Amino acid sequence: MEYIRLGNSGLQVSKFCIGCMSFGTPGVLFPWCLDEEKSEAVIKKALDLGINFFDTANVYSNGEAEDFLGRAIKKYANRDEVVIATKCGINMDPHHGPNQTGLSRKHIFQEVEKSLKRLGTDYIDLYIVHHYDAFTPLEETMKALNDLVVMGKVRYIGASNFHAWQFAKAQAIAEKNGWAKFISLQNPHNLLSREDEREVFPLLKDQGVSLTPYKCLLGGRLARKDDEVTSRSVTQHPSSKRTYTDDGDDEIIRRVEELASKYACSKANIILSYELSKEPIASIIVGTSSPERLEDTVRTLDVHLTKEDLAYLEEPYLPRKF
Ligand SMILES: NC(=O)c1ccc[n+]([C@@H]2O[C@H](COP(=O)([O-])OP(=O)(O)OC[C@H]3O[C@@H](n4cnc5c(N)ncnc54)[C@H](OP(=O)(O)O)[C@@H]3O)[C@@H](O)[C@H]2O)c1
Repeated sequence: MEYIRLGNSGLQVSKFCIGCMSFGTPGVLFPWCLDEEKSEAVIKKALDLGINFFDTANVYSNGEAEDFLGRAIKKYANRDEVVIATKCGINMDPHHGPNQTGLSRKHIFQEVEKSLKRLGTDYIDLYIVHHYDAFTPLEETMKALNDLVVMGKVRYIGASNFHAWQFAKAQAIAEKNGWAKFISLQNPHNLLSREDEREVFPLLKDQGVSLTPYKCLLGGRLARKDDEVTSRSVTQHPSSKRTYTDDGDDEIIRRVEELASKYACSKANIILSYELSKEPIASIIVGTSSPERLEDTVRTLDVHLTKEDLAYLEEPYLPRKF
């Protein structure tokens, strides 16, 4: 495994991070989620492969993903070596009551305690705000996060699903007040969706912040073999399906297949190798449905795309219209 520092911090993470959204009783969040035994097998395989970075959230299967991860880490890992990231700020229940979502001081403090309990740990390595909250003053959110760092409940902070202006504003508030700043941003990015390269990438590079992208395999749609049927593929909702109808998408996918055959590797290896080549990406969050998938994913580190390959993959891309 290869390790890299996250942003300008001293925190060392593996180049792959296990996305824990797939962990939980099937049907609670998604029908294709893995029960505890299967989740544990993936976590154990990740640790055996040298992966030390795990990304979860309070809302994944109503907290079960944190429960599963916490128990598996206790069983198989040295807590000092692993980096646990979890998130707060989203509530999947549309009928939730007041103070049950968002990034107020009250809600953040409530959620961090629940996450610590479920994870069975005294501290969270990277505490991520899941979404920008337009209703809470950003000063309140950044002060609450800073206080968690000072209290020792959280080591570092990160953001997710922020636009460039939102991220820049948050960092400026933290800077002005001498508070902890975000060391990472978790946004979607893949060969077919590269919108963040316009505003977000230059901002992160300028500020020494890492991107930890998610949805790099588009929920598996970009990486499965054409005839491959998995429990996720058959239950993926058509309305959530990013169809390859945009000009250029079909050609990009064809080129991924061509390079996979040139390098005798999987499509996932080409797609993930491409992601790792892009600054400011440090570590890729991968959703993993089995230990075998993960073994394949990690083989990406043996694939070395040339500058020409990378340009060839990008060439057909047409920026999305708003
Ligand atoms: N911050 C946010 O708002 C947010 C939102 C969504 C996700 N996330 C994070 O990102 C993580 C990943 O999300 P995701 O699972 O939706 O996206 P993904 O990583 O794009 O897709 C994962 C799927 O790709 C397939 N796959 C994985 N490795 C493969 C390989 N080597 N070869 C072929 N197929 C492979 C698997 O599908 P099969 O089941 O078909 O094997 C797997 O379920 C989540 O667990 C979560 O931590 C964050």
